[in-house]
Amino acid sequence: MRDRPIGVFDSGVGGLTVFKALEERLPGENLVYFGDTAHVPYGSKSPKAVARYSVAVARFLARRGIKALVVACNTSSALALPQIRQAVAVPVIGVIAPGARAAAEASPSGRIGIIGTEATIASGAYTRELSRRKPGLRVMAKACPLFVPLIEEGWWSDDVAWLVARRYLKDFHGSGIDTLILGCTHYPLLKPVLRRVLGAKVLLIDSAEETARETERHLAGLGRLRSGRGVRRDFYVSDGPDRFLGLARRFLGSGVKRVRLEQIDA
Ligand code: DGL
Repeated sequence: MRDRPIGVFDSGVGGLTVFKALEERLPGENLVYFGDTAHVPYGSKSPKAVARYSVAVARFLARRGIKALVVACNTSSALALPQIRQAVAVPVIGVIAPGARAAAEASPSGRIGIIGTEATIASGAYTRELSRRKPGLRVMAKACPLFVPLIEEGWWSDDVAWLVARRYLKDFHGSGIDTLILGCTHYPLLKPVLRRVLGAKVLLIDSAEETARETERHLAGLGRLRSGRGVRRDFYVSDGPDRFLGLARRFLGSGVKRVRLEQIDA
């Protein structure tokens, strides 16, 4: 059981931010990643469609013999966690609860901003999770739908990204937030741009590290942690493997050797 991989999925490259955190925290683990690039972006789809795609990907990864599944997508975590848990027989870890926990603990004033996809923000999942953890927090949320296509295009450090960020984040001016939750796993790639817009004072919270820690806790509790040497990394996408390979190498380095195409039945 220990040698089985941890499955990680997202609609595209965003989940690689969580993949990287898992690699850093759990260097002895085998990992298998799925980017549902045929259906990206999830954030503008209906809850039904997101659940259908997510369940299909989860079932595919379950067939690869995973020992746990990390839903490295806020949109799926917000809209489809119960359906995913029902579809697979392994522990399922989402990214919303770890991100909310980190933000609630980190914010000195309790004024927290959230940015995410349209679907994540409309679901209210972060706001609910934050008030469950710490009643009385003042929360302001904003959907930023153009960020994901910009990142999938590889433009995360481009001036265009800065202009778009400036426009979206204008709404937070004067709000007094001291903490901003990056409520989409694509957004950590925009950290330098977001910093440039917001300045150094606002804390940027991404759930990647916290999710990796949660995964470690979970596997340790089950006695399923692996610390051996010689790890496997497998990457699958539902469309455009070459394109994904280029982006994954830019983000994770040349260690990404191969990306396989796998059409999922959604
Ligand atoms: N990276 C995903 C998220 O965290 C999905 C973005 C999208 O496909 O719209 O929400």
